[in-house]
Amino acid sequence: MNQMQWTHLDQWFSQLLAPEDDALRQVLAQSHAAGLPDINVTANQGKLLHILARISGARRILEVGTLGGYSTIWLARALPADGQLVSLELNPDYAKLARQHLAAAGVADRATVLEGPATQTLAQLIKDQTAPFDLIFIDANKDDNPAYLALSQQLARVGTVIIGDNVVRQGRVLDASNADPGVAGMRTFLQQLAAPNLTSTAIQTVGSKGWDGFSISIVESA
Ligand code: DHB
Ligand code: MG
Repeated sequence: MNQMQWTHLDQWFSQLLAPEDDALRQVLAQSHAAGLPDINVTANQGKLLHILARISGARRILEVGTLGGYSTIWLARALPADGQLVSLELNPDYAKLARQHLAAAGVADRATVLEGPATQTLAQLIKDQTAPFDLIFIDANKDDNPAYLALSQQLARVGTVIIGDNVVRQGRVLDASNADPGVAGMRTFLQQLAAPNLTSTAIQTVGSKGWDGFSISIVESA
């Protein structure tokens, strides 16, 4: 098995099962042109997020890490007409571009991008006693994942689904001595997911983004 095969199969799955419309294609093209890193979820992963949101009946979704809004759109399209998605983005240029993309995709009525360091935005949402979210997708800088999870749990209810992206990082997450703060952050995040108030698992994936994976958890108690 090699990367070329994983990429080809991802392309086939995505074309067959998770075709992108013009709006999603434009997000990728314009994000790339604007110099954003090409680290979006793949189309079939976006569809997985969409399906998980639908299965869980999510009406309120929180995303940590907007980038250009690609996963945001897959998730927002899973919401009912009166649903709400809040996505948090550190970089104001990314946030601005993402807002344009959400508007072009027809989900600006449901999806809001909040700018700033997500630890601060999450703390503000907690302070504001924001209604709990039904599904939370954590996909920003990995060194802050432990804080993002701890704060997210304060914005959750019993039954909230918490999904983490990039829990494998080409296997580096297995290396306790790895000096990359993102790897250390992800290791701590996974250890936090083992707490008894969460029901969690993690799965490895291969595809056009290489070897990586997702965590999925259900909040059992606050
Ligand atoms: C990186 C971040 C991501 O969220 C991702 O899906 C892939 C790569 C990164 O920072 O390298
Ligand atoms: Mg990611």
